Amino acid sequence: MKRSVLVVDSGGRGVALAWKLERDGCEVFRLPGNMDIKDILRFAREKNVLLTVPGSEDLLAKGIVDTFHEAGKLIFGPTFKAARLETSKLYARLFMRKNHIPQPEFIVTTNQTAARVAKKRLGLPVVVKADGLAAGKGAIVCRSEEEFEEALKIMFIERRFGSACDLVLIERCVEGEELSVFFDCDGFSYKILGTAQDYKRIGDNDTGENTGGMGAYSPTPLSTPGLMKKVEEKILIPTLMCLQKRGMPYTGVLYVSLMISGDDIYVIEFNARFGDPETQVVLPLLESSLFDLLYNTALGWLDRTEVEMKPGYATTVVLASGGYPGPYEKDKEIFGLENLGPDEIMFHAGTREENGRHFTAGGRVLNPVGVAGTLGESIRKAYVTAGKISFAGMHYRKDIGQRGLRYIAQGVNKTLRK
Ligand code: GLY
Repeated sequence: MKRSVLVVDSGGRGVALAWKLERDGCEVFRLPGNMDIKDILRFAREKNVLLTVPGSEDLLAKGIVDTFHEAGKLIFGPTFKAARLETSKLYARLFMRKNHIPQPEFIVTTNQTAARVAKKRLGLPVVVKADGLAAGKGAIVCRSEEEFEEALKIMFIERRFGSACDLVLIERCVEGEELSVFFDCDGFSYKILGTAQDYKRIGDNDTGENTGGMGAYSPTPLSTPGLMKKVEEKILIPTLMCLQKRGMPYTGVLYVSLMISGDDIYVIEFNARFGDPETQVVLPLLESSLFDLLYNTALGWLDRTEVEMKPGYATTVVLASGGYPGPYEKDKEIFGLENLGPDEIMFHAGTREENGRHFTAGGRVLNPVGVAGTLGESIRKAYVTAGKISFAGMHYRKDIGQRGLRYIAQGVNKTLRK
């Protein structure tokens, strides 16, 4: 069997998927994530690829999985209906309410007056959240009246996220420690792929604007066996069972973003795909074949696959363009790539090549990854690799992984390794 895979994604996540699939012996084709679905299908047919892996939620929201199913082509990911767990935050919240899945209290609003009433009822701090997709930037934490009014302006006056903010959720802001868990599901069974902590804000110590993600490390010491059991029993299993009952079994990665507050856990959001940049730290730790996992999942044979993780940790730091997460600079020459050693991992997230020279071509440009036996060493390696690179306007966070080191210092280090 020719193991040919088409990865459809424009960022570092797609590069990481392709990197691991090539290591599994696959022939890998790549297409950018902003292509028309009909063109993607045509390409998959022409190249006779065995499996297609869409990276972003936008493709799921456009129904790429349904189109491929109708065409009889194998694809990894949830259908349009199942992906609503991510593509509509209101759908996800109502689903969780109906199925008693722990989540923060929320109120849905359509205008500023209703939003202000909701905020009064819940009390500050609140999270103001666009219902639809907003490239990871649609949730605004408001701790003061000024921040809340600014969020209302973004949602209802500027309408920065277009029709994604037709409906706006006002949610109680749960304080605690954030953690992401990645499950691979074939509609009937599931496997744990890994855990990570993402760094969403642009500035050190979680300051400044939200971004698509400025770095991540995996696994997080918070993911103790006890916590993972709770997540499976209280969140994952009821979610999968209810989707099955509704006639839309969930296939693909279910990425559960959680807040841990004392003994309680809350779902902050569901995502219906691999995370970016979390994939860049989960896949370097995956010992077993990614191809077998994705292929067997798409066929509904997940129970035939073992997921084996390497011991140790991985950390990635996102090297970003000047201006990101706002309008950013492009076409800056990148220096230092030639200084990387053969064992150093550098995923290109937003670059282009011209006559052997590399230039910036995105907001998130490069993702150096450090893999090591300890979290501290993986952080050090990621920053050593980052330090070899330069381009005009380059900026990155200096504190990726520090929360993990703090948990370990506090004795929370019984990470689930299975
Ligand atoms: N890193 C956040 C996301 O992929 O949604």
